[in-house]
Amino acid sequence: MRIQLNYDLSAQNTFRMKVSCACWVEYETVKELEGLNFDRLPQPLLHVGEGSNLLFTKDFPGTVLHSNIEYIKYVDMGFEEVPVMVGAGVVWDHFVAETCRHGLWGAENLSLIPGEVGAAAVQNIGAYGAEVADIISGVVCFDLQERKRVKFSRAECRYGYRDSLFKQPEGKGRYVVTSVLFRLTRKPSPRLEYKGIREALEGREPLTPQEVREAVIRIRRQKLPDPEEIGSAGSFFKNPVVSRDDFARISPDGSAPHFDQPDGTVKVPAAWLIDQCGFKGAREGGAAVYERQPLVIVNASGEATPAEVLALEQRIINGVRERFGVTLHPEVDHI
Ligand code: EPU
Repeated sequence: MRIQLNYDLSAQNTFRMKVSCACWVEYETVKELEGLNFDRLPQPLLHVGEGSNLLFTKDFPGTVLHSNIEYIKYVDMGFEEVPVMVGAGVVWDHFVAETCRHGLWGAENLSLIPGEVGAAAVQNIGAYGAEVADIISGVVCFDLQERKRVKFSRAECRYGYRDSLFKQPEGKGRYVVTSVLFRLTRKPSPRLEYKGIREALEGREPLTPQEVREAVIRIRRQKLPDPEEIGSAGSFFKNPVVSRDDFARISPDGSAPHFDQPDGTVKVPAAWLIDQCGFKGAREGGAAVYERQPLVIVNASGEATPAEVLALEQRIINGVRERFGVTLHPEVDHI
């Protein structure tokens, strides 16, 4: 376990904001987490993974906790389904790479998403027609309020689009994910609904998870900034869901990209709305709208400040609202 005061968080957030916290705690086991004297730590408490979906808006006055619980345990009994128990601190893409190498299906469409396993289960990460909730059977947490271990079934996690119990008021800040139980399968089950993936792989069946993973990685590298080179927190905004009437107003001839939802509403790509408003490449100081995917705000100079990112965010929200009457909501957690 490592506890440090006045800790620099620059390397703990993929946006690379130069901020600090009053206290940093890194633990290796659930026992260490349970043994912490929480009341003596500077408050409030914040638990982070790789910090790949956060925007620190200023220095954090409390304690930031980070898990180094790293194990991947297969319960392989030779059945079609293979349960896998994974520690919250495992880097998400290490887990995906390993399961694809073993020929297990389920995580391949979620290749190369930054972050760690615990945060993936909080955030319900998704890409290319898949969401992590599709392969989660259960989540084990430490309850900071009751100071005890608790288990949640998939249904109890109340997963939605980039949403879960752990992001809602009754769960946020209360439960620390310590491990996640996944359900993978040997049965070939490629999900090729997403256009780019279908085009890359159609006609090449039978596929392996590894081949799907490689196609996903190629597409992501074309569209999204390489976290090693340029700071960002991935998609900055959620894709808004609007009524059918509102969609008709946004796109009278219906030509705008959209996804009809089962309940009759319509999901419109925020990237398209932002692009239509001419925001590609727009800048506020060191912060910029990424040219190849305007849903992403990047730390273009490497020196962008939280205030510059917030100013750019507000300009985009105002611009899209004025032009289309739609209010964008950030996907990135503001701390
Ligand atoms: N588009 C434009 N201009 C552009 C780029 C895109 O108009 O310059 C339009 C295109 O019509 C495109 C549409 O936007 O078809 C949607 O773009 P895309 O499918 O690439 O992705 P997205 O809907 O913008 C979501 C997730 C991503 C995920 C991709 C792929 C959210 C908030 N974002 O983005 O997740 O990788 O789908 O499935 O749901 C993340 O959460 O950090 C993330 C990157």
